Amino acid sequence: MTSEATTAAAVIGERPGAETASAAVVRPHIHAVGIAVEFPVRRSHRRVRVLSNINLSVPKGGFVSLIGPSGCGKSTLLQVLAGLITPSEGEVQVAGMHPVQASARRLIGLVFQDATLLPWKNALDNVSFLLDVADKSRPRREVRDRAREMLRLVGLEHAAELRPAQLSGGMRQRVAIARALALDPEVLMMDEPFGALDAITREEMTAFLLEIWERTGKTIVLVTHSIDEAVFLSREVHVMATNPARIIETMAVPLGYPRNEDTYAEPAFAHAELRLRRLLKEGHRTGHRQGKPGRADGAGKAER
Ligand SMILES: Nc1ncnc2c1ncn2[C@@H]1O[C@H](COP(=O)(O)OP(=O)(O)O)[C@@H](O)[C@H]1O
Ligand SMILES: [Mg+2]
Repeated sequence: MTSEATTAAAVIGERPGAETASAAVVRPHIHAVGIAVEFPVRRSHRRVRVLSNINLSVPKGGFVSLIGPSGCGKSTLLQVLAGLITPSEGEVQVAGMHPVQASARRLIGLVFQDATLLPWKNALDNVSFLLDVADKSRPRREVRDRAREMLRLVGLEHAAELRPAQLSGGMRQRVAIARALALDPEVLMMDEPFGALDAITREEMTAFLLEIWERTGKTIVLVTHSIDEAVFLSREVHVMATNPARIIETMAVPLGYPRNEDTYAEPAFAHAELRLRRLLKEGHRTGHRQGKPGRADGAGKAER
């Protein structure tokens, strides 16, 4: 743990208002302590533990990835951080408040693997949509200007009039990112946003996301199962293992920013990649050892 994180950990738990100005600076933007999630097993009184003792801190403007095998609980954890799932144990704070409150204040933007655009609306209207819903009193013109600005940010100003079916997979994801950014959230939470894209588009989108992060300074939490993507983008990677999911290691990526294509060729990149690969294999093994076949723990279920 860095000294900054240690200080941050010490600061959390103090009464609001009790912090000094310097403490406020180091308070993590996202902080999760002792998170466990249990789901009820259908037609049974049993509960299955999906996440166990998860501790996680993300500083403001940080970029962290959650990586782990399919079905290990990455999406569940992201939903806990976003306030969409209430954990059975533990506490989460986002921007110093309960994540449900942070969501209500539109401090959290979400992007999923499927762009979930409205097929009958064009790109501009899809980006405007949440803005319209969020603030009905906002003048239509202002909403459209903001939506246009967001489309420009993601390099799609020329595609404003196109419907989702007329856009490529990468473009649809850009629209989804523009829509999430339109409300100017402090935190962007992304669940395998490029998982359905081909390899080259995926690499382009990775570079694009890095650029967006550098330009907007948002705090980003990215769920991925791509080792490359995690190393290239993140400052820190949380490696998860299965049954129940837990973080087996938090790895700082020893590469500075800005990063670009040449970053892939750096020895530190290869080194970090190798380390992650070994940790993931280790996580897989511990998962297999602990997961008994036939147990209703859903291990190995397909991606959600
Ligand atoms: N609502 C739910 N009820 C019961 N089990 C669930 C529910 N949501 C997820 N799970 C189980 O939790 C585990 C983790 O799922 P998930 O978070 O989607 O994993 P990942 O995103 O890493 O692939 C899986 O075994 C899945 O079957
Ligand atoms: Mg998932």
